Amino acid sequence: MSEPMTRTPAPIDPARLRPVLASTLGEARTLPAEAYTSPDVLAWEERHFFEGSWVCVGRAEALASPGDQTAVRVGKEGILLVRDAQGALRAFHNVCRHRGHELLEIGATRNLRAIKCPYHAWVYALDGTLAGAPRFGDVPGFDRADYPLIPVLVREWRGWVFANASGDAPPLEEHVGNLDELVAPWEPERLFVAARHDYVVRANWKVITENYHECYHCPSIHPELCEVTPVDSGENFPQTGCWVGGSMELKPHAVTMSLSGASGGVRLRGLSQTQARQVIYVGLFPNLLISLHPDYVMTHRMEPLGPGETLVECAWLFPPEVREIEGFDPTYASEFWDITNREDWAACESVQRGLASRGHRQGPFAWSEDEVHAFMAMVARGYVDGRVSVPPRVQEPSVAG
Ligand code: FES
Ligand SMILES: [Fe+2]
Repeated sequence: MSEPMTRTPAPIDPARLRPVLASTLGEARTLPAEAYTSPDVLAWEERHFFEGSWVCVGRAEALASPGDQTAVRVGKEGILLVRDAQGALRAFHNVCRHRGHELLEIGATRNLRAIKCPYHAWVYALDGTLAGAPRFGDVPGFDRADYPLIPVLVREWRGWVFANASGDAPPLEEHVGNLDELVAPWEPERLFVAARHDYVVRANWKVITENYHECYHCPSIHPELCEVTPVDSGENFPQTGCWVGGSMELKPHAVTMSLSGASGGVRLRGLSQTQARQVIYVGLFPNLLISLHPDYVMTHRMEPLGPGETLVECAWLFPPEVREIEGFDPTYASEFWDITNREDWAACESVQRGLASRGHRQGPFAWSEDEVHAFMAMVARGYVDGRVSVPPRVQEPSVAG
């Protein structure tokens, strides 16, 4: 397993983080601009928030059969994911034990009974043991047993795959906390990906997350969304894990989030009457946003490409029952959200340009931005502590407005 990492505070002036951690929302201010624009801060985040925590690297269904392999990036680390012969998911640093060539190109997938290095053809079994090293038979003292691949912690949670590259994050159950209970009725583990869009957004990953956590902007930029959901509806959830989230109601005519409010799928079987009238939006730190609808689940999985650039992989997950609907087409969901996503990306990219201005100052929060504040406070506390923990909460006002 990897060496436990040394954790240091982020390269940001602590005096600029103190206002983010104020004890009342009225006194609290947004994160300073350098949190979004500095390459040093991003490098620190990649190490402490991504490599040093549990990062979602995709869906388990992408690695369904023995021998399935893919290489993903977590922070600056390349990780090889493998479904072994017994059906267990394994992960290794994507580095050959010979001279360090990558075992598989990041983003590539393959199915092979072994892991073969493309450089000098060393071959590893799916459990990471070295099975063959051409022309090493006559090298004195060489023992294949000394050169297994270096494992990485990997876990599945409700159909999503998570990796902890540093090997020293607290258990995934602790990281997820009571989010498991919250999402359980949607049974994400039995859903499959029916549609997917990839976007490159010219904004920091936190700008995208913060935008996701409020609907204060909805009347200004989302005419389609305002047709199906009242923007001031819903409530936030108290959490025991590293996540932030809340619910929103559907308008009476709408059964889901789509342009007409109609569904082209089926209602998920485990939902209560109340859950079937809501959409729940949660962000599991650092990179997975989960939107629970009555008939589908949408996720945004983020990978920072630079301080001002993020890859966003948006996926729409449906229950197996939709396969029985003749001519089932997930675009009623994906089209609605593609329109909404693009409206959001334009806003996020504008915010990113504003953050880069010498005229930027740390701003205040409205009560409808309390989840944005909870997220920023979780980030600010993580910058100070060197690791992320459950978001601190400010006191709720007696009358929210
Ligand atoms: S670096 Fe992999 S076989 Fe040489
Ligand atoms: Fe939005």
